[in-house]
Amino acid sequence: MNLVLLGAPGAGKGTQAKHIVEEFGIPQISTGDILRCAVSRGTPLGLEAKKYMDAGDLVPDEVVIGLVKDRLGAGDTEGGFILDGFPRTIVQAEELDAALAEMGKKIDSALSVDVDPQVIIDRLTARRTCRDCGRISNISEGEVCSVCGGELYQRDDDNEATVRNRLNVYDAQTAPLIDYYEDAGILHRVNGDRDIIAVWQDVLDLLKNL
Ligand code: AP5
Ligand code: MG
Repeated sequence: MNLVLLGAPGAGKGTQAKHIVEEFGIPQISTGDILRCAVSRGTPLGLEAKKYMDAGDLVPDEVVIGLVKDRLGAGDTEGGFILDGFPRTIVQAEELDAALAEMGKKIDSALSVDVDPQVIIDRLTARRTCRDCGRISNISEGEVCSVCGGELYQRDDDNEATVRNRLNVYDAQTAPLIDYYEDAGILHRVNGDRDIIAVWQDVLDLLKNL
């Protein structure tokens, strides 16, 4: 099962991806996570990406396309994969399709998690992430991860001004992918504006019926 998770910033892509990983045992490939890892390690890629990420803009296509192509070559993607936050432009989607075709593969389903923008601003300014286990959480949990005891931190791009720009960038550059995958006949939409388990139930039903 080769999946694309679409949705605005904060729609719940990462949260639902973790459930899919647990249920189906396929890896989550989050370009945001890969880029944040490069930023925290201070690599040349991280230094280049940080200025775009801090502003809430997209990192250039050629950079992320290269990262994803490399990642898709790893053995753990043989049984399927979840792309979380990629593609984000039509160019990325076309390059992805071409790269997969060369590997004799294709995207089976693109799942769009739909959430109202005001809900998103509230969610993202409250989000916290565990530095150790990567679990996505919320300010209500305090400063310590209740699962592993790691530090819960706020992402640099989760302030209101940057979130607003990320939403604008989503509308301008990523939302056209809804039509791209609809035209390909593989788009599924989920109402992400309900509690996490209710959204997951819909996602699970959809995936079981693919
Ligand atoms: P990325 O890391 O992909 O961020 P994003 O797309 O902005 O999405 P988020 O991770 O913010 O949200 P999410 O949908 O995963 O929500 P989550 O589950 O965490 O990208 C960051 C940056 O990297 C980009 O701005 C760009 O600069 C760069 N980048 C990445 N990919 C790129 C690409 N392909 N091309 C170019 N540049 C790229 O949930 C959010 C919060 O809500 C959490 O607190 C969670 O607990 C809560 N929550 C989740 N679901 C629910 C629910 N149903 N009800 C209530 N709360 C919920
Ligand atoms: Mg995410």
